[in-house]
Amino acid sequence: MSPYHMTRTLPEDATGAALRDDVRHGLTRTPKSLPPKWFYDARGSELFEQITTLDEYYPTRAEREILLARAPGIAAATGARTLVELGSGSSEKTRYLLDALPLLRSYVPVDVSESALTGAARALLAERPDLHVHALIADFTEEFALPRTPGPRLVAFLGGTIGNLLPDERADFLASVRSLLEPGDALLLGTDLVKDEAVLVRAYDDASGVTAAFNKNVLAVVDRELGADFDQSDFDHVACWNAGQRWIEMRLRARRALTVKIPELDLVVTFEAGEEMRTEVSAKFTQDVVRGELADAGMELAHWWTDDAGRFALSLATVV
Ligand code: SAH
Ligand code: AVI
Repeated sequence: MSPYHMTRTLPEDATGAALRDDVRHGLTRTPKSLPPKWFYDARGSELFEQITTLDEYYPTRAEREILLARAPGIAAATGARTLVELGSGSSEKTRYLLDALPLLRSYVPVDVSESALTGAARALLAERPDLHVHALIADFTEEFALPRTPGPRLVAFLGGTIGNLLPDERADFLASVRSLLEPGDALLLGTDLVKDEAVLVRAYDDASGVTAAFNKNVLAVVDRELGADFDQSDFDHVACWNAGQRWIEMRLRARRALTVKIPELDLVVTFEAGEEMRTEVSAKFTQDVVRGELADAGMELAHWWTDDAGRFALSLATVV
């Protein structure tokens, strides 16, 4: 059997239909919004990788520091034979886990970005020809079936991507992760932590403008997929801290009053000058909030590890 499989768990047109629904829904309400999963076409995935190398964007470095220090402890606590990774992207930090898990046989990266999955699998298989890599193109907020691989399973959700879900979506998501786990399986969850507002805003509004390009890339996706005529230069990138919700919000602000045609939806959308459309939330957590949300989903926080500076946390949760 070949050690590499790629499965599309969605029907061929599911992505197109979901994008159409999300764009119609998000652009015909007030305030306008778009879900962040549409950032990640090939260009968006590339821009995210650039973000992870920026001085201002500390989460990737902080999580890498924790993984390096704690991977042996994670291996000892889980004995995982299968690693499932949700929103795996480039799988770059995953290497620390793969290196540390002595019993690991299968790696199941799950992502909406086919280009990220293909690139990651190619790099991994060159380094580890014996590892069974079963990539799934899937939306982790929808139901999807995991391949039959040996247990125990460790499900990793790194990078703080859980913070990109809204509170209701997060609760549904954690409940569905719980339903994937059997006794002896575990969840490894990365969460960015509440901290000084200036540090947070800088991380999402970098001096070189990479995050701005990432944010505006969602307009290019809608133009390409739905024939829209968004012009990126009509919008400014905005990143601000919402203290009540404890999340960073990324928005696109119209520089002038404008009209956008979206032929695939038979829709014309107007923006007032200065109107803002929300494109992402990135929630920041405390230990109590993580523990509580895991408990609400039927999981127990077994370990809580942070980097030395206390910026980011990795939680290991088991099923109750
Ligand atoms: N885990 C990596 C990548 C984080 S970027 C890291 O820590 O660096 C977020 C990743 O999640 C991207 O690869 C994006 O394509 C993926 N993603 C975002 N929303 C998704 C969804 N709803 N379903 C599946 N993958 C998603
Ligand atoms: C993927 N996710 C955790 C990133 C974040 O920090 O919320 C996405 C991102 N948005 C802007 N910069 C990075």
